[in-house]
Amino acid sequence: MLERIKLTDLHSKVMTAEESAKIFENGMTVGSSGFTRGGDSKVVLKALAERAKTEELKVTLITGASLGHDTDAALAENGALTKRLPFQVDTTLRKNINAGNVLFIDQHLGETAEHILNGQFKIDVAVIEVAEILEDGSVVPTTSVGNNVDIAASADKIILEVNTAIPTAIRGMHDIYKVEDYGSRTAINITACDTKIGSDVIKLDPSKIEAIVFHDITDMAGDIVPADEATAGIAKHIVTFFENEVEAGRLTKELMPLQCGIGKVANAVLGGLEHSNFENLVMYSEVLQDSTFDLIDSGKMDFASASSMTVSQECYNRVMNNLDFYKDKVVLRPQAISNSCEVIRRLGIIGINTSLECDIYGNVNSTHVTGTHMMNGIGGSGDFARNAYISIFVTASIAKGGNISSIVPMVSHHDHTEHDVDIIVTEQGLADLRGLAPRERAIEIINNCVHPEYKEELMSYFERACAERGGQTPHILEEAFSWHTRLKQTGSMKKVEAETLVG
Ligand code: COA
Repeated sequence: MLERIKLTDLHSKVMTAEESAKIFENGMTVGSSGFTRGGDSKVVLKALAERAKTEELKVTLITGASLGHDTDAALAENGALTKRLPFQVDTTLRKNINAGNVLFIDQHLGETAEHILNGQFKIDVAVIEVAEILEDGSVVPTTSVGNNVDIAASADKIILEVNTAIPTAIRGMHDIYKVEDYGSRTAINITACDTKIGSDVIKLDPSKIEAIVFHDITDMAGDIVPADEATAGIAKHIVTFFENEVEAGRLTKELMPLQCGIGKVANAVLGGLEHSNFENLVMYSEVLQDSTFDLIDSGKMDFASASSMTVSQECYNRVMNNLDFYKDKVVLRPQAISNSCEVIRRLGIIGINTSLECDIYGNVNSTHVTGTHMMNGIGGSGDFARNAYISIFVTASIAKGGNISSIVPMVSHHDHTEHDVDIIVTEQGLADLRGLAPRERAIEIINNCVHPEYKEELMSYFERACAERGGQTPHILEEAFSWHTRLKQTGSMKKVEAETLVG
């Protein structure tokens, strides 16, 4: 094990997770590695949660994104969190956020590093998973880079988790670049997905390393949810759209660099590309799932850039056993770079993200259930949507067995405004909003995307809004949230059921 610590002065810092957790103090700000299950702290944050069971120990926790291994649940359950940012997906933590027990900052993933850099958050202790510590104290990251660079730079103390389950041959899969301070900042000079501009290791100040903990725990496997009728339908509409764009001369068979959110829709869309005529595809995204590695293996995709990989156990083993093959085809970068607005705009990304609900003008709510309750967070969807060449939002047309229409008169929370949304896709069809004014957008969305059960009522709302109120973006404000109100009162947005139930 000790051969993974090449700077031998640090051998004396090796200890158990429980011993290292004594470093945490009540009120501290802790920064940790971890980005959607990839490269997260496996043992030290769990030991912090364990301490919080019996003593007053609450911290602000900043990570790359969500964590695996139920760590967020353990921290929330034991009252170890005052504040959490920038993203989460855990059911227990979500309940605590919505109950007001944990304060949550829902942040663009590309921006967190800026807030650390600008001193809005000062990290007391950093916890970073690494594959190896080199002679000069620099470290080789594992399956994500996340905010590790800026968290480590800002931290007073650093705890390293050396994961011996990760082969040291992973070195070379990363491109570590730290953005400079304002005033002396230069361009992030990435001009293609495979451009590398940094180093393959994260430079650390070895004098800050207070503890080193060994473990051999792999990342929690990603969930592979097979495509259902809705996701397969959405994927089909997107592939047809791409084919039409090629025919119209606006895209080539290589498309443009793809960004895909995580989840079953993303997997279905990328899966759909495997059997298409597109070729030499590339990705500039934030998380890589199985579908990316499948596209690489089938020869359809040449290169993929992201900040993290979150894959099934089978795919994880495939990658770890063939690192030399994948190192030429995959790069993991800090999320300040994978989600950099500057780079996204320069490369001309096709961004595909998921919404909870959209409205008739193309505004999107990705985060708040009925306008108040946090689901997961905005993640990187805003970084990409605002700057993409084509910004696509997908959603099934209905949720909760049809009691919720995903297209509503007015979204109950705005994450992405109409100005950042080019295409909306449901299993019903695709609305191409490019070049359309609000009144045209409404007709396109209602005609193509809305479930038949809700179509007539939505069209009636729009027509009455135009006739009775008018304006650039017609709305009947006292009625705009009537579908959400009906859902709250009756458990369904359906008018007929509501009337039966109420009366
Ligand atoms: N109102 C209330 N609930 C809704 C809803 C709506 N309009 N639309 C969907 N839901 C519910 C679903 O019923 C489901 O509930 P369940 O977990 O109890 O079954 C849940 O929301 C998730 O929806 P699902 O259809 O399974 O889609 P998903 O897993 O792809 O998640 C988001 C959709 C929007 C929650 C998810 O994509 C997300 O968090 N996005 C924001 C972050 C992001 O885009 N990151 C991009 C880069 S990774």
